[in-house]
Amino acid sequence: MKALRVHLKDGGYSVFIEAKGLQKLADHIIRHHLGEHAAVISDETVSGLYGHRVIEALGRKGICCELHVVPDGETSKSLDQISKLYTKLIESKLGRDDFIIALGGGVIGDLAGFIAATYLRGIKWIQVPTTLLAQVDSSVGGKVGINHALGKNLIGSFYQPSFVVIDPSVLVTLEERELWAGMGEVVKYGLIRDGDLFSSLEINLDTLVTLADMDAIIEIIFICCSIKSEIVERDEKEIGLRRILNFGHTLGHALETETNYAYFRHGEAIVHGMHWASWISLNMGYLSESVFRRIETLLERMPVPNLPKGLKAERLASHIASDKKQSTAGLNLIILEDIGSTTVVKIESITELIETWPAFKGK
Ligand SMILES: NC(=O)c1ccc[n+]([C@@H]2O[C@H](COP(=O)([O-])OP(=O)(O)OC[C@H]3O[C@@H](n4cnc5c(N)ncnc54)[C@H](O)[C@@H]3O)[C@@H](O)[C@H]2O)c1
Repeated sequence: MKALRVHLKDGGYSVFIEAKGLQKLADHIIRHHLGEHAAVISDETVSGLYGHRVIEALGRKGICCELHVVPDGETSKSLDQISKLYTKLIESKLGRDDFIIALGGGVIGDLAGFIAATYLRGIKWIQVPTTLLAQVDSSVGGKVGINHALGKNLIGSFYQPSFVVIDPSVLVTLEERELWAGMGEVVKYGLIRDGDLFSSLEINLDTLVTLADMDAIIEIIFICCSIKSEIVERDEKEIGLRRILNFGHTLGHALETETNYAYFRHGEAIVHGMHWASWISLNMGYLSESVFRRIETLLERMPVPNLPKGLKAERLASHIASDKKQSTAGLNLIILEDIGSTTVVKIESITELIETWPAFKGK
């Protein structure tokens, strides 16, 4: 087993990474004294594959759980779904000494974490991420939240889990498209912080996605979680450094919102967003042509849907303007100075910087 600790002012928490780690969930719960009654929040696909198995295994160790299932996908990160779940938790008499288990991808982590942060003014919760994206990124750091019709992740909080159990063996049931979407966030970690990771992806990207080498996957998860925890330790509430984790997300979120969360997987939209941000880095003279070409070559190897026809740059710009990362004095964009090195620049003419982006013009 690999493990790392996220050190925070109030003590922090551990992240356990282990193939077949799901089988040890009850032991972790008992060791952390989390209690004997939990609500497992999951989506239809994951609950069908793993939900009942998890509940039975926990039951055998004296931990009694109710399973609450929401539809798959981004639309479950909604006020409507939150409201239904609160009702179910109250009806099942989940109390302040009980806890929540988020069993699923990033959608379930964000949703269940937000419920944990707000139900009875906050109860304990744990993350059991089941997509590559959630295992390398969203399960660590305590950002929880839901979407609003006017934009993505506009309602939320910072609320850290008691621990995270990452079992990469569950990735074998994940669709290949989801694995590639998760790889988008892995590439992000290489670009913002780790040139060696990026170089290894240039060699191994396609092999990694086959999951043939579980040790290599565990290593990638460990590297990404270590980078994320180091950043979160230094800036838990995203006042400064943590903003670099949003590299590629400015345009990425706008693309997701504009296409009603139905066209791109989150990680796919981020691949386009990273391409745009890298192009701006080149365009503004921060990044060399040769480094930009390396980045573009890797991103173009990733099988993500093309930008849909008919996209309007002004509409994307207006989504960006209502994004919470927009300050009144202009847009703060994370751009690259090199692979593994970022800086922040203020952008005023977003529409023009979308319209003149060659990938947008060529769509
Ligand atoms: N909180 C954060 O720091 C943070 C960071 C990055 C992304 N996010 C959020 O994460 C979300 C995207 O997460 P995601 O890409 O994991 O999507 P997701 O949670 O929608 O999961 C994708 C699909 O995979 C299925 N699935 C999950 N695990 C599976 C498994 N093991 N086998 C088979 N199918 C499985 C799900 O049912 C779903 O249909 C977005 O809402 C994004 O905003 C949050």
